[in-house]
Amino acid sequence: MTEEPAAESSDDQPNDLMERVVNLCKRRGFIFPSAEIYGGFRSTYDYGPLGALMLRNVKDAWWRAMVQQRDDVVGIDAAILSAPRIWEASGHLSNFTDPLVDCRHCHERWRADKIDGTCPNCGSTDLTEARAFNLMFKTFAGPVEEDATVAYLRPETAQGMFVNFVNVLQTTRKKPPFGIAQVGKSFRNEITPQNFVFRTREFEQMEMEYFVPPDDAQKWFEYWLDERFRWYLDLGIPAHRLRLRHHQADELSHYSTGTADVEYLFPWGWDELEGIANRTDFDLLAHSAASGEKLEYFDQATGERYVPYVIEPAAGATRTMMAFLLAAYDEDEVGGEKRTVLHLDPRLAPYQVAVLPLSKNDTLVPLSREVLGLLQPICMCDLDVTQSIGKRYRRQDEVGTPFCVTVDFESLEDRAVTVRERDTTEQIRVPIETLVAEIRGRLGR
Ligand code: GAP
Repeated sequence: MTEEPAAESSDDQPNDLMERVVNLCKRRGFIFPSAEIYGGFRSTYDYGPLGALMLRNVKDAWWRAMVQQRDDVVGIDAAILSAPRIWEASGHLSNFTDPLVDCRHCHERWRADKIDGTCPNCGSTDLTEARAFNLMFKTFAGPVEEDATVAYLRPETAQGMFVNFVNVLQTTRKKPPFGIAQVGKSFRNEITPQNFVFRTREFEQMEMEYFVPPDDAQKWFEYWLDERFRWYLDLGIPAHRLRLRHHQADELSHYSTGTADVEYLFPWGWDELEGIANRTDFDLLAHSAASGEKLEYFDQATGERYVPYVIEPAAGATRTMMAFLLAAYDEDEVGGEKRTVLHLDPRLAPYQVAVLPLSKNDTLVPLSREVLGLLQPICMCDLDVTQSIGKRYRRQDEVGTPFCVTVDFESLEDRAVTVRERDTTEQIRVPIETLVAEIRGRLGR
């Protein structure tokens, strides 16, 4: 089916963009409220078939850039359930707190630093004094609930890298500057989870600890600011929706001497996607002191011994996925008809290709399956057979599928198919024999 080209879309985004994206996520199987059949559960979310694919793509894109395409970074996958001594040494037991106030009027609880002295629920200014609330989730390892069995769900992946510093040094023969990277779940008992998956109690992080000679820390801090900013641009976040913001001294975490955030212009304003921090030698020294193990680097060539400084780019995978969805959301017109389209980078889109037999007629299905079988080894494909071809194009546009491959009756004769591109709706005829090369070329694989 040929279509009119898509009308040029503007960068204006609808006022209710957030609502539209949340609806799309639910309707199309990206993100569901968790335990929905029981009325949901405390701002937790489940990633559906398309969301799981996209989240995986976000994490893979990060891993490719941070581990695969470098020779100075290795990856690990540390335990989530962790020893109290880690969090005592890291300072999280005493410092990882938010100031909590209660409204005496409606009894809602708020983060004191986010509300300007007035209850956002009822407008009362009758609030309790702020008290420090630790954000770590505490549990018990084993059947007995006592002090000796306390364990914590990690509130950041970073400590897994510090406590394995020597293990990694010894097993990889790396030397500073080098990094240890990790992607995985973290948990924080946030007082006010909000804005869909922007702030949740269970979320995924993508963090890297880059160990450097202390004198080179500032140089590497600036290097990682640049690298990380470019990563978002490269994956399609428009430059005018992205900025770097350096922290003021009173905003710095307990371990940092310098931090800058990569911020995205969300519907509610600029907010953090990623923090890049100079953590100095704080963590290695703290774990050295607490464990009695020497966490340092010894350079056999020069005889030099030192505790490296650490530059840490720390990003949120789930939060970043949401930013990619918001940035990609668009409504334009094709042939006078409105469509919703996600202009997702093909590396992030849940499906790279949808294979569509023009009609449900059984004669097209075997060839469609043959085409699907050719493409599945190189990318994630959907086979969509129901409803009119126009409706199926719209459906794929709405979930960001960059290419539709249509098998029609002529395909049975000429063994060629139509490749349609999502953003322009341009269509070209391609012999099945060269289809894989064509799609590979367009995906850059
Ligand atoms: N290791 C340093 C660290 O954890 P952070 O700024 O607290 O630094 C890093 O977290 C990133 O993790 C944030 O920039 C954000 O993208 C993500 N993140 C933190 N808390 C989150 C939450 N409650 N929900 C979703 N993402 C979160």
